[in-house]
Amino acid sequence: MNIVDLIIKKRDGGKLTKEEIDYFIDGVTHESIPDYQVSAMLMAMFLNPLNTEETTMLTQAMTYSGEIYDLSDIDGIKVDKHSTGGVADTTTLILAPLVASTGVPVVKMSGRGLGFSGGTLDKLESIPGFNVSVSKENAVKFANQSNIVIMSQSENLTPADKKLYAMRDVTGTVDSMPLIVGSIMSKKIAAGADAIVLDVKCGSGAFMKNYSSAKELAKQMCAIGKAVNRRVTAVITSMEQPLGQNIGNSLEVIEAIEILKGNVQGDLLEVSLTLGAYMLISANRVSTVEEGRAILMENIKNGKGLEKFRQLIVQQNGDPNVCDNYLLFPQCSHSLTLKAEKSGFVEKMNTALIGRASVETGAGRKEKTDTIDYGAGIIMKVRVGDHVCEGDPTAIIFSSSDEKCQTALSYLKQAIYISNKKPQIPPLILDVI
Ligand code: URA
Repeated sequence: MNIVDLIIKKRDGGKLTKEEIDYFIDGVTHESIPDYQVSAMLMAMFLNPLNTEETTMLTQAMTYSGEIYDLSDIDGIKVDKHSTGGVADTTTLILAPLVASTGVPVVKMSGRGLGFSGGTLDKLESIPGFNVSVSKENAVKFANQSNIVIMSQSENLTPADKKLYAMRDVTGTVDSMPLIVGSIMSKKIAAGADAIVLDVKCGSGAFMKNYSSAKELAKQMCAIGKAVNRRVTAVITSMEQPLGQNIGNSLEVIEAIEILKGNVQGDLLEVSLTLGAYMLISANRVSTVEEGRAILMENIKNGKGLEKFRQLIVQQNGDPNVCDNYLLFPQCSHSLTLKAEKSGFVEKMNTALIGRASVETGAGRKEKTDTIDYGAGIIMKVRVGDHVCEGDPTAIIFSSSDEKCQTALSYLKQAIYISNKKPQIPPLILDVI
């Protein structure tokens, strides 16, 4: 087989066979296909999307490109959760300890930021000392001891995805549905959980910009899960504005802690409770969403969720005192406030642009090798539908230099639209598949 022939076949709209897809993924995994040919194939796949059969074959090849986790030594039904990526999307840090505090084991392999969307590992690493590299033996030990572990995927879990993910990020091929399906589902299947709850984001701050493409993505991921005997639930949620108020690593951890303390309500809590309730249903812990939400709310009120979060931090070598003293998080020397240029309603937001502004503060990476400024980010002071008067603060930017604050400000200015029209508030939970 010759990779050039396969690139030409896909470029011209042909359908790849199982042998051809296996050959490509094997070449990616073992680096026998050079980056320029992998990039060319990714672009061919982007322009001529893989059909359902090809997507299933790609997912399978990626799943078996490395190690498969066996979590059978952990008692109970293991539930994993994955978001397709958003802005101020801190649900994992809220629902993982909450769900674990009800006795359901949460074994979560998380990722780093990609483009404008944040990553749970980067957020957790803003807690001084927190270690996301956990061996398989320790993952089983922690899950049996505390019901919770959040870690990076091992080097050998879906190595094909690791290479393709990094390549897609720099070749304009991230937002391809079949490639997203393959990337997410291969990782989730190889990670070994019995049930998976997917948060499929939809809107201006998501890779899927509209409901129909989000629904198609959700359906394809559920179908692949079913084919390999995993219980998959996909919840389609709105990403028409940042989900929480805080964007940036330590800022998002602080917001999660405030929610676990019961001090903050709103969309981030709502989505966390809904996803968490579906995790409890998948684990046969409850039979309805209402029942699940009530148990999770109860564990906010009685402090069990926050206690579980502290336990997670201690177990993974972090400093749990951050929960009581936010000054223990890395701090930023510079801040800048964006003010409304006129009075009116916040009509809509370009959420990806807000995510981009956050990257400019230093909270995300522009290149793979960039180091993250954990204290940097943005606190949003408005939500869609709010009325503002000229001069009211709409966002506060935190960074390590005035220059970075100014660059972030220039993006933010274009991202928040104020008009005389009171907008309809977009629904938060759009569908469940
Ligand atoms: N999240 C993933 O893990 N992969 C993608 O391709 C997109 C979002």
